[in-house]
Amino acid sequence: MGKGIIIAIDGFSSTGKSTIAKLLANKYNYIYVDTGAMYRAVTLFAKKNNFVGEDFLDEEKLVLNLKNISLSFKFNKDLGFAEMYLNNVNVEKKIRTLEISQLVSKVSTISKVRSKLVAEQQLMGKNSGIVMDGRDIGTVVFPNADLKLFMTASADKRARRRYKELIDRGDIVDYKDILFNVEERDRIDSTREDSPLIRAEDAIEFDNSDMGIKEQFERICTLIDRII
Ligand code: DC
Repeated sequence: MGKGIIIAIDGFSSTGKSTIAKLLANKYNYIYVDTGAMYRAVTLFAKKNNFVGEDFLDEEKLVLNLKNISLSFKFNKDLGFAEMYLNNVNVEKKIRTLEISQLVSKVSTISKVRSKLVAEQQLMGKNSGIVMDGRDIGTVVFPNADLKLFMTASADKRARRRYKELIDRGDIVDYKDILFNVEERDRIDSTREDSPLIRAEDAIEFDNSDMGIKEQFERICTLIDRII
């Protein structure tokens, strides 16, 4: 096997990006970085400090406090992937709630938040051999990535997946709220001024509304094996 490559996976929420990314990282022994977790951790910080809520966002205060946010990933051997730490506290569970999902797109529109996280993500890719998923990886973080994938699926399929995930972990949620959140995040993520979610020209698109993870994974491995 040659030198590790950079694989950028972008797409809408709940399109199975992280499932595919984790499988790829495992198979090729690459580092996996879930950039959505980083935006979620900043949102958790903003929420705790009352810089963001359902109907407000204090952009100025959040930006002034960005220096007090330290993000890191620590590999959890039992789970087989790295968990998100905010100021050295494991926040993996706290960042996955519907409440954070409802605030994260708003926080992600702030350019100073984006430039801080993009710089950290680019550093992580310095040594190659990385699978990174998010919304702007192939367009902004690694425009020269060796392989770019763009995942889509119908809003209904995605909301059903997210609903199942939350129910399985014991959260009490309503399907209608999840569908609304999925559609609302699509809208904000795709229309924001700074690095909106768009498919990079050279990204390969996968619509997995009706495609199983196994089939998709195999197709992507074929693409990777042609490169490495
Ligand atoms: O992948 P996710 O659903 O956990 O991401 C949560 C939010 O974070 C998403 O709605 C938009 C934002 N995000 C972003 O703006 N840029 C990224 N690279 C990753 C996520």
